[in-house]
Amino acid sequence: MAVHSNSIPFLLMLALVASGSQGANILGLFTSLSPSHLVIQMSMAKILAESGHNVTVVTALKPPLLHPSVNHIQVPLDEADGKSFGALVADMAKRDTSNAVISMLVAMGSLTSAFGKMADVLRHQKVKDLYEHTDNHFDLVIVGYFMNSLQLSVAHKLKVPQIVALSNPPSLLGSVLGNPSEISYVPSMNLIVKRGQPMTFVQRVQNIFATMGSWIFMRVIEHNNDKIYKDLYGDDPSMPRYEDLYKNISLILFSSHGISEGPIRPNVPAVIEVGGIQVKDQPDPLPENIEDFLNSASSDDGAIFLSLGSNVKAEHIKSDTVQKMFNVISKLKQKVIWKWDNLENTPGKSENILYAKWLPQDDILAHPKIRLFITHAGKGGVTEAQYHGKPMLALPVFGDQPGNAAALVTQGFGLSLSLLTLEEQSFRDTIHEILENPKYNRAVKAFSSLYRDRPLSARQTLLYWVDYVIRHHGAAHLQSPVVHMGFVAAYNLDIYALLLALLFVIYLCSKLVFCGLYRKLFSNKSKSHPKQKSKKQKKQ
Ligand SMILES: *[C@@H]1O[C@H](CO)[C@@H](O)[C@H](O)[C@H]1NC(C)=O
Ligand SMILES: *[C@@H]1O[C@H](CO)[C@@H](O)[C@H](O)[C@H]1NC(C)=O
Repeated sequence: MAVHSNSIPFLLMLALVASGSQGANILGLFTSLSPSHLVIQMSMAKILAESGHNVTVVTALKPPLLHPSVNHIQVPLDEADGKSFGALVADMAKRDTSNAVISMLVAMGSLTSAFGKMADVLRHQKVKDLYEHTDNHFDLVIVGYFMNSLQLSVAHKLKVPQIVALSNPPSLLGSVLGNPSEISYVPSMNLIVKRGQPMTFVQRVQNIFATMGSWIFMRVIEHNNDKIYKDLYGDDPSMPRYEDLYKNISLILFSSHGISEGPIRPNVPAVIEVGGIQVKDQPDPLPENIEDFLNSASSDDGAIFLSLGSNVKAEHIKSDTVQKMFNVISKLKQKVIWKWDNLENTPGKSENILYAKWLPQDDILAHPKIRLFITHAGKGGVTEAQYHGKPMLALPVFGDQPGNAAALVTQGFGLSLSLLTLEEQSFRDTIHEILENPKYNRAVKAFSSLYRDRPLSARQTLLYWVDYVIRHHGAAHLQSPVVHMGFVAAYNLDIYALLLALLFVIYLCSKLVFCGLYRKLFSNKSKSHPKQKSKKQKKQ
């Protein structure tokens, strides 16, 4: 086997090396309350299961896609909690989101309690069974992160390595791996800076405030989590302190691809980017009715896909906004696929519109007839459209959506309108602008070719690193030493303090010496005068 190892194609080699950890037992804790995060995490579970691992996932929401060989444990939140989270989303949809930071702060109180709810998952007997039952054996835990770091505790209970999966670029959680912050040139998520360009003075000021804002936000959440943690495991001496949970993360899978998406930044080796993991390398065939509908579109005009995501339900949008959208869309030449939950009560009938409740978004965006994606600008949808090179019209609602929308406009992939103040005229004009001006299509196509150009696809990257952690029983050797250093040591503050103290001592010493010297000289002079005088007097 080992003879002509040079001639074995790389992928085959990879498969051979990886085969050492095939069929591992992997536990996914995907209890996020955000369906768009769950989409990404469940596609990871699917890929791992397809490659031969025994994957068990715990979710709080009903998973959007469930591979038949993935074992699923649903830990239901009680109905009231589910409703209150829905109400929270609805409330945010109706509020103006032009200022994301303020709406985030306003929502913070209700969010903190929502995050508290995720902790209830850990109290559930089905989850306790995972580590209390001696029959269960796991090799690895993957935690889907959504401010729910309490779940890092389960890997400690099981005494196995863990990986964190995050639906954002490295800026947010990278610091727990010792990833440098570099706030002078790495813009935080909500700040829009053109790729490759340094931030202006004003932007750097904004960046500092945004960084401090999210730091405070995280401290509030963490403070809350710490209390829950003590309540959960306070009497268990085998458990680490809450703040030490972070020190045992082998690596974090970030849902981003810095080289094409930016920002360009240094990353420690434990930062693994798998942006686009939810996008299949090859699209699946479409359901027959959708395939026929798209094929019936003329090849000159093409088709449009309209989806406002899964968090925002039809009843959350003001009804006159929906009417305005329908008035514009029903008069377009294009065929339109419109994601709509309540099929008994659609915005109106029209030849060119197909309503559907559930749609394979990725496969539809891959279809060559699609010319425009009208989206709420959730990270998942935007990623898929960028992967397939489709221009977008963003109608952001809340959370990271205004930021995603602004970013895609800056990159020239499309335009954005406020859903709250949507008017027929501007909606129609914007659709025509994106369809008729080729620059949007060109920009997003160029991005798409960079995004797909990687040494390993997102899928291969995931499989390689998961197997890597299992093979080496954790990845402590990958870890930056800064993870185990306090704030003072990490920034060399103690050494700077020592240097300052030394400088001060040197200053004091030299002051003493010079003063002494000066005094000596001075007193010598004043002493020598009488002597000289007396000598002179003697000579005279
Ligand atoms: C797969 O994992 C589940 C859940 O831990 C376990 O019950 C089952 O026995 C495992 N199957 C194999 C083949 O190891
Ligand atoms: C985390 O803990 C596990 C089991 O205790 C260990 O095997 C692994 O090496 C640790 N990982 C890190 C990064 O410290």
